[in-house]
Amino acid sequence: MKCRVCGEPAVISLKAYSTALCAPHFISFLEKRTLNTINKYRLIENGEKPIVAVSGGKDSLSVWFMLNKLGYAADGVYINLGIENYSDISFAKIEKMADLLMKKVYSFDIKRLSDKGIDGLAKILKRVPCSACGMIKRYVMNRVCIEYGYTTLVTGHNIDDEASALFGNVLYWKEEYLGKKNVVLEARHGHLSKKVKPFFLCSERDIAAYAILNNIDYIREECPFSVGAKTLIYKDMLNRLEQLSPGTKIQFVKGYLKSFIKNRQEDIKNTENFCSKCGYPTYGSICNMCRVLERLNIGEGHICFDEYDPSVLDTTERLMT
Ligand code: AMP
Ligand code: FES
Ligand code: ZN
Ligand code: ZN
Repeated sequence: MKCRVCGEPAVISLKAYSTALCAPHFISFLEKRTLNTINKYRLIENGEKPIVAVSGGKDSLSVWFMLNKLGYAADGVYINLGIENYSDISFAKIEKMADLLMKKVYSFDIKRLSDKGIDGLAKILKRVPCSACGMIKRYVMNRVCIEYGYTTLVTGHNIDDEASALFGNVLYWKEEYLGKKNVVLEARHGHLSKKVKPFFLCSERDIAAYAILNNIDYIREECPFSVGAKTLIYKDMLNRLEQLSPGTKIQFVKGYLKSFIKNRQEDIKNTENFCSKCGYPTYGSICNMCRVLERLNIGEGHICFDEYDPSVLDTTERLMT
């Protein structure tokens, strides 16, 4: 197998495009594809200040690395879910990347809320870990963005995430969710940040290859609470379809963008209220996060962040960590 561009030995085949590429040409292929998405959907425009939600996985570390390489200076935000043998390892990978990029990371430790990790907290709240986790992550990411003056929250969602979520929504005809997922969601009312997904059209497999070829050290394990999740089953099914018929996933997601997302302002119609306690958006009168604080009998002061800033560590400190 030879690289279609230079004829050197290829390291990856891209069946959906009936091509194969060597390492440098694959890296530039993925960077160009991401840059096209950024420009086409106006994900990060002049004067915007992006921040990347980093989990320690391949997608978010790669998007953080790539954005900085492409000239979009971006800091990071991490939500430490207090999961044993997982969360601290994830953060160590994030610190390593922060050192390389010389970028700041804001982190929120869930144990600030109840001294418990996400599983313990979810039990108190009588929710399953993933639902409590999703709600807390959404709130915290948005809040860091607004509080620290970032304009644009970047996540590492890839085409496999989008296709499997879309598949689930179509399968159960969750019409209320169809049309809500997009490459970009605009900022609103000064309290909801713009949210963008530069890897929306990149596959998990390609991103993993990009991470490996760039020596990005990422956590390979999935969150232990995601085992058996329906989205993982859908991903597996879609991968099997993709193998039989390369290009299926991209057609599915692009078709969705074309048919459902007619106008990027469309989702603005669905206006929210503002939480009477914290001022952040909610569909009711008090937001879910403030309900959690009430349930735990604690105040808003518990929502605060640690900052890891490699640019203020001196060289010896950095070498020792
Ligand atoms: P997931 O929902 O786990 O597939 O993650 C989707 C995206 O959300 C990732 O690519 C990250 O950008 C972001 N994300 C997930 N978990 C965290 C976390 N604990 N802290 C910060 N960002 C996260
Ligand atoms: Fe949220 Fe696992 S419970 S990532
Ligand atoms: Zn080549
Ligand atoms: Zn609130």
